[in-house]
Amino acid sequence: MKLWSKGFEPDKLIEEFTVGQDRELDLRLARYDVQGSMAHIRMLESIGLLTADELDVLLKALAEIADQIEKGDFTIEPGVEDVHSQVEFLLTERLGDIGKKIHSGRSRNDQVLVDLKLFMRDELRHLAQAMERLFTRLQTLSEQYKDVLMPGYTHLQVAMPSSFGLWFGAYAESLADDLRIVAAAYDTANQNPLGSAAGYGSSFPLDREMTTRLLGFATLHYNVVAAQMSRGKTERAVGMAISAVASTLAHLAMDVCMWMCQNFGFVSFPDELTTGSSIMPHKKNPDVFEIMRGKCNRLQSVPNEIALLTANLPLGYNRDLQLLKDITFPATTTLIECLDMADFMLQHIRVNPDIISDPRYDYLFTVEEVNRLVLAGMPFREAYKKVGLEVQNGTYRPLRAVSHTHIGSISNLATERIAEKFHTILKQILD
Ligand code: ARG
Repeated sequence: MKLWSKGFEPDKLIEEFTVGQDRELDLRLARYDVQGSMAHIRMLESIGLLTADELDVLLKALAEIADQIEKGDFTIEPGVEDVHSQVEFLLTERLGDIGKKIHSGRSRNDQVLVDLKLFMRDELRHLAQAMERLFTRLQTLSEQYKDVLMPGYTHLQVAMPSSFGLWFGAYAESLADDLRIVAAAYDTANQNPLGSAAGYGSSFPLDREMTTRLLGFATLHYNVVAAQMSRGKTERAVGMAISAVASTLAHLAMDVCMWMCQNFGFVSFPDELTTGSSIMPHKKNPDVFEIMRGKCNRLQSVPNEIALLTANLPLGYNRDLQLLKDITFPATTTLIECLDMADFMLQHIRVNPDIISDPRYDYLFTVEEVNRLVLAGMPFREAYKKVGLEVQNGTYRPLRAVSHTHIGSISNLATERIAEKFHTILKQILD
């Protein structure tokens, strides 16, 4: 049965092809569909398209459906196209003619838009919270291991002293940058599209400001065509945020994989957090971080997938837009899973406290030596040459003492300032 049924049913093959994954994916939109409907009918009552009694009856029935959804008892029945149809069928089944009144002045096109906005707003909040958990873990580790030195590399060649304080802290601050992009996506999602109907508005005097208030949106998409165009645009903003966070996490995962390698041996994990080999009895592999790296690298294709899916679509609703759900729904879930897994793994990380006494890292300290000479009065280029010659003729001996005091360096991590930065952005999303 279709909402748009006019006496014939579409071919089964056509139905399955066009419905695709909607019956499953739309379950995640169900609670938002009910919220959107509640706001819509309150507004319809306020402009005289429903009586106060009808509104009461409809609100009660919708609250029952909301309960059913929260209990996990809500399904989209075979033969029903999507969540919007299912909710309307349930209402009509329970209430008869009153149920049929709910759809005045709206279309499934703006229902799906409003559902998606509400859904993405919540998903971005969950994402920001998962980022905060990992951020806090990284900052804690950064402080805990601030005195443990490690080699810093450029060109993957031993370069200058670094520290676990810097390393953990770097990923924390990078997450703050990613959070800015999450906040921008959040602002994009936080606009009410409801009232654009099929995409061109309605001849009913819809009070769109009222539904904006009722649904807690910061503002609305004023232009009804712009509201319809926001499908795809909002997902793209979310996709960019996902991609930014995923890139940071993939990078972190790569570092861990490399540093767990015996040639580095900088970090390790308890045996039960590693995986074995079917043939090599000694293996303790970093599969968790490899899967994380792979998933996060794939997630970086989300904005591209969306760009390709929506490229050159004609103005107005086109069914292609339905496929945006196939891309974005699993993406946010995967990213949050990866963030939580990173948090869990890092809780158990073991840091090698004595990496840099190994002679292979002697040259880490050449710049320290040059700077020591400069502070004692020697011009930089002369000091550079002197130490360079010592390295060349084998007489260079490192002091292995590090004194980096400026802000953001080994002995001055600015942990609190970075936390302040992160939480200022986080507030924009969570408040
Ligand atoms: N499942 C559809 C989607 O996600 C809902 C909107 C259907 N609208 C339509 N005109 N066929 O896009």
